[in-house]
Amino acid sequence: MNDILNYEGKICVVTGAASGMGKSTVALLNGLGARVYALDINEPSLPVEKYVRINLGDKASIDAALAELPEKIDRVFSCAGIAGTIYGGRTFSELDVLTINYIGTRYLVDGLIPRLPEDGSVAVIASTGGMKWQLRQNLHLEFAKTDGFEAGQQWYKDHRDELEATFNGLNFAYMMSKEALIVWMKHRAFALSGEHIRLNSISPAATDTPMAEDFSKNANGLRGSHVSNVGAASTPDDQAKALLFLNSDLASYVSGQDLQVDYAFTVKGLHGLQ
Ligand SMILES: NC(=O)c1ccc[n+]([C@@H]2O[C@H](COP(=O)([O-])OP(=O)(O)OC[C@H]3O[C@@H](n4cnc5c(N)ncnc54)[C@H](O)[C@@H]3O)[C@@H](O)[C@H]2O)c1
Repeated sequence: MNDILNYEGKICVVTGAASGMGKSTVALLNGLGARVYALDINEPSLPVEKYVRINLGDKASIDAALAELPEKIDRVFSCAGIAGTIYGGRTFSELDVLTINYIGTRYLVDGLIPRLPEDGSVAVIASTGGMKWQLRQNLHLEFAKTDGFEAGQQWYKDHRDELEATFNGLNFAYMMSKEALIVWMKHRAFALSGEHIRLNSISPAATDTPMAEDFSKNANGLRGSHVSNVGAASTPDDQAKALLFLNSDLASYVSGQDLQVDYAFTVKGLHGLQ
């Protein structure tokens, strides 16, 4: 049979591998014969080739993780993230949210890209919470062009108020981190096209994972349903399948795209329903 996904024997790095969408991604990859390097702040329960502890909020921890990963990697699945300044029973600063979800994530991905072969591929998880990135496109593009971890943090400190002045909503830090991630993904994907390396994101709508409850806490309990007429949140498996599609041979000419995995939730506005 023709293996059109082509994960057999592929070295795959998965962040956020201990829970939710990252854990589902590991399960699917294991079933397809991939060799999974699992990165997370918590130890994953599924069997993997190697677990590497990482804190995406800490540059030294990312550098240490990079040193423990193979010199050649085929696919990267960046799933780790936090729901806002409240996550997993802890509180975080806005800068922590920006760092874990965007600055640390891009620093890790940038560290892994030189290890990818031609036709290598990266998929990151953004969010439908970042779907209004066009409203702040020019600012996010400046952010995307900052070089490295500290420069990214400094840019955010210098421009935080400017971003907030254009924002009308809840869970500011989370929304900014995901908007920034989408704009960076698009910016970086264009540069990588010359190297024949693909970079895409998915933007999940509400998904039934341990993080789900933290979203309403971050929005003062006011969070909308983020679900279309399909009537139920997606499963982590729904999201993992979209990630596997993007990083597979099926998506061989797809790059720089944010795939909204939302069962038409984001088109609600077109029908006057928002
Ligand atoms: N659940 C939703 O409704 C939803 C919607 C849109 C987007 N997302 C995004 O999906 C991704 C996966 O989230 P999930 O819903 O599976 O949540 P989850 O909480 O189940 O999984 C997140 C994983 O990230 C890890 N993690 C957290 N902080 C980390 C850090 N500092 N360093 C390394 N690892 C860290 C956690 O240990 C966990 O394994 C996230 O990027 C999230 O923002 C979630």
